[in-house]
Parts: sequence; structure tokens; C-alpha cells
Amino acid sequence: MEIPTETKNLILKRIAEIQTQYPDAQAACLPALHVAQDHVSYVTDDVLDLVADTLTLPPAFVQGVATFYTMYRKRRVGRYHLQLCTNVSCMLEGAEDLLAGLESHLGIGAGETTPDGMFTLDAVECLAACGTGPVLQINDRYHESMTLEKAVKLLDALKSGRDSSDLPTPNVDPDEIAAGAKAAPPAPDDKDE
Ligand code: FES
Repeated sequence: MEIPTETKNLILKRIAEIQTQYPDAQAACLPALHVAQDHVSYVTDDVLDLVADTLTLPPAFVQGVATFYTMYRKRRVGRYHLQLCTNVSCMLEGAEDLLAGLESHLGIGAGETTPDGMFTLDAVECLAACGTGPVLQINDRYHESMTLEKAVKLLDALKSGRDSSDLPTPNVDPDEIAAGAKAAPPAPDDKDE
């Protein structure tokens, strides 16, 4: 997806601010990728090129960073990206049944997105909250000790569009960005690894 000029300018402005807060370009790469992802939804080749050019880093370095860290999305996902840990501790707490329940409730399999573009469901490795499994990460929020009943309530609240500080922030819609219908998403905070 080609990044619209207005969106690109917003990303460049934020990266310029980030550069003043980090000692060198390599250190600024992680937050710069976060900012770009937050503005266009996922890390495309154009995003990698933009970050590499702006920070004057080798494209291979930026690509290596983006592919190493799982928090950078390499494919289009829904407004809400559901990542359910199915690693050992969460599995022992019922993650596999929860995954099957979510698949049935959403009508999709793991790795898929609902036809309305609202939810993408993925089974992932350990999310480092093993004591309170099963752990369901939705966008930037962790939901621990998750049950199917609690998850369905949460998904219903997200689908209703209710605005609440308890709920995760939706991802931007790449189609809206491409159409210029929503060229200025709220500026996210800088994020560190
Ligand atoms: S095993 Fe699920 S968070 Fe670690």
C-alpha cells in the first residue's frame, strides 16, 4: 500500500521528534516503526523504506528489526487483533478449548480475519504472563485469566463500538488511510521495546 502524502508527513514529523529523544538512528528504529505501523496499520515494504530512508539506516537493518519482533504486524489484520497464547502454561489453563470456542464464535480459524474486517484471530507463543493464563492480547491490551464467556462479552463490547478506556484502541483501517478518509489518526505515544 502506497502511503498517502498526508499520512507520510505525519509519520515523518513524529520520527523527527523521536530522533531528538534517542542517541542514534538504530535506537530510534524501534519507536519509528511503531509510529509508522500505528498510522498505516501494518508494516509494509513502503513503511520499511520510509523508516530506512528517514533514519538513513540500511534497509536490511530495518527489515531485520521488523521481522524479529512479533509486535510489528507484517500482514493486514482486523480492527482488533486477537492473539491467544497457546503455550504450555496457558494450554494447561484451557487455552486450546478457548481457541476452539473463539473460532466457533467468530466463524473463522486461527490465522484468519472475519469478513467484516473486525477481528483477526491468531494463536501465538508465550506472552510472558504465564501465571495468569490463558492470556488473550487484543491490540495493545492483555486480558488475563480469560474464559470464553469473558472473551465473548469483550468482543461484543468492541463490536458495539463502545468507547471506553477499559477497551483496546482499534487499529486504523488501511482502506480509509488509502482513501484519505482518515488521514490523521490520533498520534500514538512513543513506544519503547
Ligand atoms: S504460556 Fe501463555 S503467557 Fe506464557
